[in-house]
Amino acid sequence: MTDDRRLRVALLGAGSVGSQVAALLLTHQDELADRAGVALDLVGIAVRDVDAPRDADLPRELFTTDAEGLIVGADIVIELMGGIEPAREYIALALNSGADVVTGNKALVATHGSELFDVADQVGATVSYEAAVAGAIPIIRPLRDSLAGDRVQRIMGIVNGTTNYILDRMDREGSDFDVVLADAQRLGYAEADPTGDVEGFDAAQKAAILASLAFHTAVPVDAVHREGITAIDKTVMDAARGAGYVIKLLAVCERLEGAAESPTGEAISVRVAPALVPRDHPLASVHGANNAVFVQAEAAGNLMFYGAGAGGVQTASAVLGDVVSAARRHIAGGVGVGESTRANLPVLPIGRVTTRYQITLDVSDEPGVLSTVAGILAEGRVSIATALQTVITEANGESGTARLVIGTHRALEQDLSDTVDRLAASGVVDRIVSVLRVEGD
Ligand code: NDP
Ligand code: HSE
Repeated sequence: MTDDRRLRVALLGAGSVGSQVAALLLTHQDELADRAGVALDLVGIAVRDVDAPRDADLPRELFTTDAEGLIVGADIVIELMGGIEPAREYIALALNSGADVVTGNKALVATHGSELFDVADQVGATVSYEAAVAGAIPIIRPLRDSLAGDRVQRIMGIVNGTTNYILDRMDREGSDFDVVLADAQRLGYAEADPTGDVEGFDAAQKAAILASLAFHTAVPVDAVHREGITAIDKTVMDAARGAGYVIKLLAVCERLEGAAESPTGEAISVRVAPALVPRDHPLASVHGANNAVFVQAEAAGNLMFYGAGAGGVQTASAVLGDVVSAARRHIAGGVGVGESTRANLPVLPIGRVTTRYQITLDVSDEPGVLSTVAGILAEGRVSIATALQTVITEANGESGTARLVIGTHRALEQDLSDTVDRLAASGVVDRIVSVLRVEGD
């Protein structure tokens, strides 16, 4: 049944996502009213330049540069401007004015989420952010609501489409990083300055959000260990392929046991890095700019969420889902779903993580070298699971160097990294080609 009130919806931003949200709010008005149980009136759209061209055909009279005037008096405020300020200030104003807030702003949620959730709690409103992680894919609500009765053990996510596009093409076509990055920029996946994507900053923000929800712990973004993909070249790709893996930039959030600093022994690790994924793992078949989040929960087992991680209209779907929920709550009253930080688990540094690794080395092809390498690994408490040696022959037919690809059993990251330092200083290693974690086996 539809309530006879009408809710005033204010939109901040009409870029790639905001313009599509506005268009859907206007064209699907009746359906949205039916689902929300109340009519949703888009009362205005705040932008910087009211005359700028828009991706969708939207009524000019809705546009304003007076964001604050629009916010005060709104029942639901949708923030799709991006950035920290003035988005943070506007969201705080909206909450303090009695509105529920919907945002897709991962940078803001990852860095100032706790502060905004506290304001929302104090005033009895909600901040929803389904679009902030993996665009169109429902993952925030599944973690917060659907899995609320379960215990999440690990999340492995491909949460950045740009880097997945780059790595996928490097893997499938044998292309070079720079060539594929230029294509990604031309196609609009990567920005002119690709740092946020290729150095893992974007994925780290999303990892912090996912880990906070999954482990009921406020995870600051600077607690996320982050490595980008710029060191992945054709040689590293070939070594991965040869060993039966594909390289993906993964956001890994996992529950760890046995931590002395935690009263229960439980702690978490949150990391973003290029990792080797076995070719038969569901994440290995995530191609192009798609995203996927693989969740392992104690009772539910393995779950995979897959789809478009970006795109204006795709992301608008996630935003509108939040708008409908916010509208229902606004009408029904009662407290919203606040942030759960009850577990407050310590986030361990990367040195305390245990995984399998693949180490690729170029060594002198001389008697005793393999045994020296094996000895250094043994001293460092790193156990060899597999080893493959190939003699490298130069174009002039000469050799003298061998490539060693060593797969390890599970080892402590600190031991592994100390061992790699010793290998580099050993005199028998010409070059450490790559050291990658194996995830998901
Ligand atoms: P755009 O850069 O395309 O659009 C930003 C919009 O905000 C523009 O309309 C701009 O106005 C407006 N704006 C910026 N600053 C101000 C300001 N100070 N006052 C008023 N208006 C302002 O961003 P997107 O649509 O791509 O992204 C929006 C949000 O959604 C971001 O937080 C992003 O991280 C998130 N997101 C985006 C995805 C995507 O695929 N694009 C996917 C998932 C999340 P004007 O047009 O006049 O310059
Ligand atoms: N730059 C992001 C990506 C956009 O490549 O996935 C969505 O957050």
